[in-house]
Amino acid sequence: MPEPDTGSGQEEGMSKTYHADPSYRTNAHMPDYYEALWRFKDDPETYWAKVAGELVWEKKWDRILDWNPPYASWFPGGKLNVTVNCLDRHVNDGKRNKVALIFRGDDGGEKVLTYRQLYREVNRFANGLKNLGVKKGDRIVFYMPFIPEHVIAILACARLGAVHSIVYAGFGSEALHARIRDSKARFVITADVSIRRGRSISLKSIVDEAIVNASTVEKVIVHRRSYPPIELYAEMEMDFNDVMKGQSHYCEPEVMDADDPLFILYTSGTTGTPKGVLHTCGGYLVGTYYTTKYVFDMKDNDVYWCTADPGWITGHSYIVYGPLSNGATVIISESVPDYPDPGVWWEIVEEFGVTIMYTAPTAIRMFMKHGEEWPDKYNLDSLRILGSVGEPLNPEAFEWFYRVIGKSRTPIVDTWWQTETGMHMITTLIGEPMKPGFAGKPLPGVEADVVDKQGKSLPPGKTGLLVIKGPWPAMMKTIWNNEERYNHYWSQIEGCYTVGDLAVKDKDGYIMILGRSDDIIIVAGHNLGTAEVESALVSHETVAEAAVIGIPDPLKGNIIKASVILRTGFKGSETLSNELKYHVRMTIGPIAMPSEIKFVESLPKTRSGKIMRRVLKAEAMGLDPGDISTLED
Ligand code: WT7
Repeated sequence: MPEPDTGSGQEEGMSKTYHADPSYRTNAHMPDYYEALWRFKDDPETYWAKVAGELVWEKKWDRILDWNPPYASWFPGGKLNVTVNCLDRHVNDGKRNKVALIFRGDDGGEKVLTYRQLYREVNRFANGLKNLGVKKGDRIVFYMPFIPEHVIAILACARLGAVHSIVYAGFGSEALHARIRDSKARFVITADVSIRRGRSISLKSIVDEAIVNASTVEKVIVHRRSYPPIELYAEMEMDFNDVMKGQSHYCEPEVMDADDPLFILYTSGTTGTPKGVLHTCGGYLVGTYYTTKYVFDMKDNDVYWCTADPGWITGHSYIVYGPLSNGATVIISESVPDYPDPGVWWEIVEEFGVTIMYTAPTAIRMFMKHGEEWPDKYNLDSLRILGSVGEPLNPEAFEWFYRVIGKSRTPIVDTWWQTETGMHMITTLIGEPMKPGFAGKPLPGVEADVVDKQGKSLPPGKTGLLVIKGPWPAMMKTIWNNEERYNHYWSQIEGCYTVGDLAVKDKDGYIMILGRSDDIIIVAGHNLGTAEVESALVSHETVAEAAVIGIPDPLKGNIIKASVILRTGFKGSETLSNELKYHVRMTIGPIAMPSEIKFVESLPKTRSGKIMRRVLKAEAMGLDPGDISTLED
């Protein structure tokens, strides 16, 4: 780990601050950030208890928190079932006929489920699973396309206290196999195909490969979408609808301890084997309920759309558990952003009157590349809040999102968090001034800081390590089967959870995320976050996307090499290459100037959209790229 405190002056030269209409603040669930902050600071436990008190508990907790660093137990003694909070509660208190899910298929097909209908389907599927022998604590691996049945099956597991482990349906059979083995799953739930860009992609055949030598698997449940239906092997396989057939509409919810596991979600470390992040019922639900309510300011008449997939933590927390525990109307869509054309997402916004849209910078930059004419074809007036997650939202992308999609009217919440944190941690609440490039401040109830390697808080403008000080409700419980890896997060700096990101604060306490600390490049003794340099490149009018890496250099330690995708209509040349180098030099400083710029058509990315810089680096240096199982193509 390099010395992370050579300030790179992020504060200076930043673009302007944006202010949402004051009505956002007056009408917000959390109108006053500072008031909430102080209430939390004074007595965090009472505040969390107040949030938890808005949920339904079978038995109230004995204490709010037992904290024996690094082990936390939230709401010990409390008992609940997450699905009672996501379903039964709404069915019983006036939201019975409110729309819970609106599904939009890749082919434009639609399906709508009210809370009552979703409740019945979940209960029936839960009864079906129970019939097959599923019980509390069993692990069930999902390898499903994004269809309503995916959400139904997730909640059915939670109803029974079974632990779901969702594997994104874009992963290959080896990655799926590794996750099935590590979690020792008894069941796998899949579908025959997923449909993308009008084409069927077989999922079942990948499951077939993945369960070879995975002896814990007893049954594979298959949702069959295509006609004629694929054949199933009766010994081992069962049709999804047959599992539900004849089952009653009510399944007694398993009463869970607050600290019982809810799910395992594997996250790829930048290197090494994936980590099974384990989240539990009580704290996780409180954290996702709280952030959905306050960060998205979720109101009863909102139409909410998060463009992620349930295979990522964003889907778990902000498609399923957070929004449904708030009784929201949730759009789910199987469609990719540019098929049949780059207008499809904006058509969905217009068609369903989406009010809150939550997406990722990589998608925004793709839309920027296609041009404003696509969103301009649609009426986007229903939008009231925009959200971003997954990587730094560079100022260029912020401004485009704000102006072209939000019509310079809707606030943007750039939410920083991780699979491990379970819930949003840092953002700018609606109504607070927005600073492009900065995610914002820690949420009330979360304490974050930028520190040096010894844990000393750094002043504004100094680059350092982002840490979280102390526990928060949706924090992971542990890493499945790997306590040591869990402890590692808390053992680098005393009393702190080390995030693995580089960041810098400004004088108002706003935090800018500069990228992973392992993505740092040291050039002539100066630390540069790859994201910083990439952001500078992308701020040039010709650049759609950029990735930079450090290549060892005898004189400077490292030199910077950039791979650049140009926007449609521009062509790479020696002149443009020099112009871009100069542009970075002018934006950040001479130290950040790339020595080499390569024009490329695509970048190696993980399926969650993160650029795999180590693949570029291996390529540039003629080395083996290592584990590339998470690579998109
Ligand atoms: C890492 C966590 C959280 C759901 C999706 C990713 C990066 C995430 C932001 C943001 C800058 C961000 C960080 C973080 N990241 N959100 N708003 N601004 N960076 O979850 O796969 O667990 O990745 O994503 O580097 O550590 P994940």
